Amino acid sequence: MKLIVAITGASGALYAQRVLQVLSEEPSVEHLALIISEQGRMLLNHELGINVSIRRPNLSALGIQSPKVQAYHPEDLAAPPASGSAGYHGMAIVPCSTNTLAKVAIGLADDLIARAAQVMLKERKPLILVTRETPLSLVTLRNMVAVTEAGATIVDANPGFYHQPQNILDLVDFIVQRVCDHLKITVHLVPRWEGRERPS
Ligand SMILES: Cc1cc2nc3c(=O)[nH]c(=O)nc-3n(C[C@H](O)[C@H](O)[C@H](O)COP(=O)(O)O)c2cc1C
Repeated sequence: MKLIVAITGASGALYAQRVLQVLSEEPSVEHLALIISEQGRMLLNHELGINVSIRRPNLSALGIQSPKVQAYHPEDLAAPPASGSAGYHGMAIVPCSTNTLAKVAIGLADDLIARAAQVMLKERKPLILVTRETPLSLVTLRNMVAVTEAGATIVDANPGFYHQPQNILDLVDFIVQRVCDHLKITVHLVPRWEGRERPS
């Protein structure tokens, strides 16, 4: 399976780091294209203290040791993720800024992240947007509706608590597991709901 992960400038760099770790260790994933926006780079630095170049990210700083990951510059509109013929099977934008959401909603393709997302929609491939913003303006809500109608899935960075998280990673993994579910990759990061025991 060939997947694309894009990191944009919304808060939640930990989600991006964990998605990359999990997908790069997943045997069914043979290739992972990574695209980081300039604001995404800034957020990685601000929230995780990681200094990455958007052209050649230091993958070991992100906790990734895998040769499967290939980084592309967000302005390289000739890179493979810009074309449907490259045959990617899905894409997750983690986290997804409301700026990038808006671009996807109107079909703007002025950088590689927006173009790759447009390609996923036209090729009818899974496109997962891990949005993070609160409160939500009517503009953003309408953009969420537009991308959902076009075939994308909004996995809002909005973890549940019913798996009884003990730490931040448990909350992050709640979202990461849902991202993987929608990329059609089964992982077991947090317990899945199996119903409540009925009182006898
Ligand atoms: C510290 C910081 C935190 C931000 N957090 C968010 C956020 O949680 N959600 C969001 O939609 N935008 C957020 N933004 C704004 C985006 O970074 C901004 O809209 C930018 O244009 C996104 O660019 P990109 O989509 O190319 O990454 C944040 C900006 C900064 C500086």
